[in-house]
Amino acid sequence: MGLISKLGRMWLTRCFKPFIFKNEYDEVLPYMECDNLGLYVHIPFCKSLCNFCPYCKVKYDEALANEYIDYLIKEIHLVALNNEKKQVTSLYFGGGTPALVKSRIKEIIEALKEHFIISEGIGIELHPDDVTIDTLTILKDAGVTKISIGIQSFQDKYQYILGRKKVDPLKLKEALDKIKFETVSMDFIFALPNQTLDDLIKDIETAFMIGANHFAMYPFIDFNFTPSNVKAMKKREKERLLNDITKYCMEKGYTRNTIWTFSNNNDANYSSMTRDNFLGFGASATTLLNHQFKINTFSIIDYIERIKQNLLPTSLTLRFTKRQRMVYYLFWTAYSTKVNKVDFDKFFKTSLQKMYGFELLVARIMGFVKKKGNVYEMTLKGAFYYHYYENFYTLAYIDKMWGILRHEAFPKQIKL
Ligand SMILES: C[S@@+](CC[C@H](N)C(=O)[O-])C[C@H]1O[C@@H](n2cnc3c(N)ncnc32)[C@H](O)[C@@H]1O
Ligand code: SF4
Repeated sequence: MGLISKLGRMWLTRCFKPFIFKNEYDEVLPYMECDNLGLYVHIPFCKSLCNFCPYCKVKYDEALANEYIDYLIKEIHLVALNNEKKQVTSLYFGGGTPALVKSRIKEIIEALKEHFIISEGIGIELHPDDVTIDTLTILKDAGVTKISIGIQSFQDKYQYILGRKKVDPLKLKEALDKIKFETVSMDFIFALPNQTLDDLIKDIETAFMIGANHFAMYPFIDFNFTPSNVKAMKKREKERLLNDITKYCMEKGYTRNTIWTFSNNNDANYSSMTRDNFLGFGASATTLLNHQFKINTFSIIDYIERIKQNLLPTSLTLRFTKRQRMVYYLFWTAYSTKVNKVDFDKFFKTSLQKMYGFELLVARIMGFVKKKGNVYEMTLKGAFYYHYYENFYTLAYIDKMWGILRHEAFPKQIKL
C-alpha cells in the first residue's frame, strides 16, 4: 500500500495498527442492536463477463444459480435466527445481473420479510437487456420500487471500448413508459479515453428523456486484477470533466444526491452505500455493524458448502477500534456530500468536534467543506478530492482485498 494512504490511515485512526481482516467470525451477528440498518443481496451471475468489471460474478448457469438461491435463502434464515422482526431502511439487489434469477426475486424478498420490515423501498440493478415489459412486470410484482440500469454510455464508441453491446434508448423507453418505478436510475462511466463534456451531457439528457429520474456517473477505475486494458484519464483532465459535469447539473437544477449521483426529482434516490449499518447476503456480500465489518467468501461453491453445514459463509472479519469505525463512518457518510454532526454525535455518543475538530477546521480553511448549522457540506473542490481519494483508497484497499479473495475462499488474514 502507498506510503500516503498508510500515513493518512495512521493519522485519522490515531493508531499504527493497520486494518486487520481475520478469518475468525461470529456465527451470531449482533445486528439487532444496530440502528439505521439496510439490507443487500448479491447475485453473482452474468450472461457475459465484462473485462473491466471488478465485481464477484461467474457466467450464468441455470442449475448453479438455482442452487445458489436455495442457499442464499438459507443464509437469510441462519443470520436472522429466531430474532423478532427488525425494522430496516431499504433492500438492494446487486450483482452480477440479479434479473437473471427474476422468477426467484419474490421468494428472496419474502424470506427477508419474515425477519425484517423494509420501510424505504426495494432496489435492483439491471442490465439493459433486462429492461423489457415482461421482466419489469415480474420485478414490480415482487415488490421492487427502484431500478438502476447499467447503461455505461449511449454512445457506441464507448460501448466498444468497454467491450459492451450498443444500447437502444427507444427500446428502453418503450418498457419504461409502460412499467413505472419510483426511482429509475441509469449508471454511466466517465473518464474514458477522450470522453468529452458533450458526450456526458448527451448521455444524461438521453437518460432523462427516456424515463430516468436519477443517474450515477462513476469514474472509470482500472482495477489491477481485471484483464481490461482501458486506461483511466489523467487526474487534471478528470477533475475538469467532473467539475464541468457537476456545474452543468447544478445549472439545470438537478439535485446532487451523492458524490456521483444526481436526480431531476427530489423523491428519486438510489444508494446502497450511504447507510450506517447493513447486512449483506450472498457470495462477496459485505456486512457493516456497529463494531465489525465482515465479508462473505467470493467462491460460490464454498459459499454453498458452508451454508450446507449450517455455518455462515464469512471469509474475513475486521473488528474496529473506535477511531477506525469513526473513519469508516465519516468516509461513507461523506459520500452523500454531507456530514451531520448531530448524527455523528448520536452514533458514537461523543462529539465530532472533539474527535475531528482540527481536521474539519483544516478542511474548511482549504475550501473542501462549508459549515451550515450542524451540517458540513462538501464544496465542488471537496467533492473532487473526495472522489480522488476514494479512487486512491479503492485501489489501495479494495483492489488488494478483492484480488486475493477472487482466488482464496478463506484467506487466513489480510492486513491493509
Ligand atoms: C454490477 S454493475 C451493473 C448492473 C449490470 N450488471 C450491468 O452491467 O448493466 C454496477 C455498475 O458498476 C459500474 N462499474 C463496473 N466496473 C467499473 C469500473 N471498472 N469502473 C467504474 N465503474 C464500474 C458500472 O457503471 C456498472 O453499471
Ligand atoms: S458490468 Fe454488469 S454485466 Fe458486466 S460483468 Fe459486471 S456485473 Fe456483469
